Amino acid sequence: MNLLPDLFIQNCGQLLTVAGASQRPKILQGMDDLGIILNGAVAIKAGKIIDVGTTGQLEKKYNKKGVKVIDAMGNVVLPGFVDCHTHAVFGGDRTGEFVQRMQGVSYLEILKTGGGILSTVKNTRELTLEKLVEVSKKHLDTMLLHGTTTVEIKSGYGLDNKSELKILKAIQRLKKAHFMDIIPTFLGAHTIPFEYQSDPDAYVDFVCNILPEVKASAIFCDVFCDDGGFTIEQTEKILSTAKKLGFRLKIHINEFKDIGGVPLAIRLCATSADHLDNIKHRDIVKLKKRGIICVLLPGVPFFLMKENYAPGRKMVEEGLPIALATDFNPGTCPCENIQMIITLACLKLGMTSAQAINAVTINAAHAVGMADRIGSIEVGKQADIIILDIQDYNQLPYYFGTNHVKKVLKKGRLIVENKQLVDLR
Ligand code: NIG
Ligand code: FE
Repeated sequence: MNLLPDLFIQNCGQLLTVAGASQRPKILQGMDDLGIILNGAVAIKAGKIIDVGTTGQLEKKYNKKGVKVIDAMGNVVLPGFVDCHTHAVFGGDRTGEFVQRMQGVSYLEILKTGGGILSTVKNTRELTLEKLVEVSKKHLDTMLLHGTTTVEIKSGYGLDNKSELKILKAIQRLKKAHFMDIIPTFLGAHTIPFEYQSDPDAYVDFVCNILPEVKASAIFCDVFCDDGGFTIEQTEKILSTAKKLGFRLKIHINEFKDIGGVPLAIRLCATSADHLDNIKHRDIVKLKKRGIICVLLPGVPFFLMKENYAPGRKMVEEGLPIALATDFNPGTCPCENIQMIITLACLKLGMTSAQAINAVTINAAHAVGMADRIGSIEVGKQADIIILDIQDYNQLPYYFGTNHVKKVLKKGRLIVENKQLVDLR
């Protein structure tokens, strides 16, 4: 072997490579396969994975003299988590609404009386760009400490030209100021802002008109197409305009109500359809073989105290490619820890631990269009690798509510050690 590693991870009790699905997302039995190598090892050079095998195999191949060695000490090692759906850039929080909801007021009631998203819009508009970057960076740091090495972030708490551009600019600054890979999404159509309450279609026109200007700073365009959000016709207008401009598409559908979002996602060839808590069997069947990633967000019904969760297990059995994410946002899921989502996927969506882990790694990488670089531990990919404090991957959802991530490597660089950020940016 002539390529010499500069970093070597050894004694990985279970090395979950999640290999073999960089071209297409995992489905069916593939969702139960984590590509496990017992007592595994990974050789890394210049931030990229150059070899994967058992510790014995790799020790024979490489002379470790002068090479930095990380001993995983028999623990579980896997690709860094990809949080493929978040709204992580916002001002303030909504603790007050949480208290209201505990007293029985529903999320939609709060939204319809000017609270909810609109109260976060007010708080976000008030922040300077610098302050917005500062508060958002804290959220990203917490995510990183919990093993998330790539994050998709949506705009959508500005809802006017200046404020939406400020959020997208904040995301661009975070890209430079943070280790994580960040995928920006424009969600100008998050809700109808105060100024357009009497004329929602005029707001739809505003969103369509701003698309060329935001194109340079967002890869995806998304719309909240649901009860309390945008209609099918309004969503179609925005997303088809975005598609012509070269955006890739995401769509929030069936979170509160089924208003016909699935046929629209299919018509538009969206990259992902997100939420899907209220989905009928006929729509699950329609989604088959369409290649649309179904991004399930069980933290939302959990936090909103609702009983209708997306039928994750059934969707896996039907052959749909499933990804999972936090939906981190101040209203419906203020949870930065994607490990908690793995537990909810098992307990509330009926998924197995292996399915859930595939859903937050390689399939989530497909949902953000980065599966060629991240999401698995394979030769040629970025060394985005996390080392847990458990010896069996089933312990990840089992010991729930705590942080199992001991070490995080991003592009081969050790940035979390002993559950602390060590390389600050
Ligand atoms: O994905 N429902 C739309 N957007 C978010 C909620 C945003 C908020 O309540 O601030 C969601 O659930
Ligand atoms: Fe969302």
